[in-house]
Amino acid sequence: MGQQTHGQQPDADSPVVVVANRLPVDQVTEPDGTVHWQRSPGGLVTALEPFVAGRGGAWVGWSGSAGAAPEPFESGGIQLMPVELSEEEVDGYYEGMSNASLWPLYHDVVEKPEYHRHWWDTYVRVNHRFADRAAEVAAEGAIVWVHDYQLQLVPALLRQRRPDLTIGFFLHIPFPPYELFTQLPWRSAIIEGLLGADLIGFQQPAAASNFVTLARRLHDLTTKGNTVSYDGRTVTAKAFPISIDARAFDQLAASPEVLARASAIREELGHPDKIVLGVDRLDYTKGIAVRLEAFEELLEEGQLESPSTVLVQVATPSRERVEHYVTMRETIEQQVGHINGIYSTIAGSAVRYFNQSMPREELAALYRVADVMLVTPYRDGMNLVAKEYVAARGDLRGALVLSEFAGAAAELRQAFLVNPHDIAGVKAQLLRALRVEPAEAARRMRAMRRQVFRHDLDFWANSFFDSLKAQV
Ligand code: ADP
Ligand code: G6P
Repeated sequence: MGQQTHGQQPDADSPVVVVANRLPVDQVTEPDGTVHWQRSPGGLVTALEPFVAGRGGAWVGWSGSAGAAPEPFESGGIQLMPVELSEEEVDGYYEGMSNASLWPLYHDVVEKPEYHRHWWDTYVRVNHRFADRAAEVAAEGAIVWVHDYQLQLVPALLRQRRPDLTIGFFLHIPFPPYELFTQLPWRSAIIEGLLGADLIGFQQPAAASNFVTLARRLHDLTTKGNTVSYDGRTVTAKAFPISIDARAFDQLAASPEVLARASAIREELGHPDKIVLGVDRLDYTKGIAVRLEAFEELLEEGQLESPSTVLVQVATPSRERVEHYVTMRETIEQQVGHINGIYSTIAGSAVRYFNQSMPREELAALYRVADVMLVTPYRDGMNLVAKEYVAARGDLRGALVLSEFAGAAAELRQAFLVNPHDIAGVKAQLLRALRVEPAEAARRMRAMRRQVFRHDLDFWANSFFDSLKAQV
């Protein structure tokens, strides 16, 4: 505590306190009772972990298990400050309000959101706890950076407790327009919670402008451009498209071990002519069923043949107790079983499906060996998998098929863009990507790599911090 005095400009390089629902590591208890920690799933951790590790700081978050929180500990240069959640809080705050109300609402109601008052009450209670913990941990005048839809009340709660702090907020997922957002029975509380921040970052300019419109129309606040006047302060809402540590991923993918593994994978798959790859958290927003459907129709029409073309789908288990996730997993596994039943041969199956999390090295090898990467979400804040694929292809080979509804499509214009609701279009683009001439593939990949390397993780974090500094 007390590294900076009240009223001083926060230093962009000083340690930061990150507040996110999840810690960067997840506590796993084996059936025999032994406990170990593994990397947490999802894009938020992929992006933030190297940033915080590089500059030092504290991370306030949940361990991923219900029950008493572990004592604070250090991991990879980060001070981890676990927050406790009871079984009932995991149920109401995490699985309920965060992942069965806000997640589908913010993703274009791809599935129908459910709203329950007891979920909301738990969400409020848990947001208070995160704000308390952040208030204890932050030094005088420090920068606190709050993340994502699980913690939208924290900025205002933290400001009440610690007016000396500079507070940034970043939303990793889309932010819906007025017409959708206003479904939410607690819409005003969420807007007020976010307005506690000095700077609110979004993935896309349209999301920032949705927020400003809501502040004006719902709360009658004065807005000017991307700013809102609130409580004697000016709050800025702006887009900062998130990215990856492109150089590190490029190096990993070009390492001799990963290249050897990439060749071994092709061999283990039986030397197919073409490998098509999908890598996602098993989430209904990701459009996994769409690509299976497109692949199946192409096999059925004889436009593709199995096993000379193989689809590898890696799907990390996610939110496994939330109903929509349970049903989606069943649907996808049935689809995979159906396709394999018809099109697999003794030599190998048409779809290789893995409901597993894989090490970064294995993912890098898969990216490196995939002739076509299929990224087909119905809606996605950014989609870091698309950027990882591009960063991994220093050989300028491979083709990316990318949904127009992923934030990444605004940057990766040379991908084979698709509307995931249009199966015929997805099939046509998949075929084009499979048949692209090497020179054209290289031209597209080079342009996308330029974008991803220029707008990398450092660029994202520095732009956010520069704006935050300019704000206070
Ligand atoms: P989201 O944050 O919605 O999960 P992103 O595409 O932005 O989606 O980020 C997903 C992150 O999780 C990426 O860094 C990706 O490499 C990682 N990931 C996805 N699937 C797997 C998997 N099966 N095993 C390990 N990591 C995975
Ligand atoms: C997305 C969200 C993150 C979340 C991650 C994994 O990236 O934006 O906030 O942590 O998915 O989801 P989970 O529910 O397992 O934390």
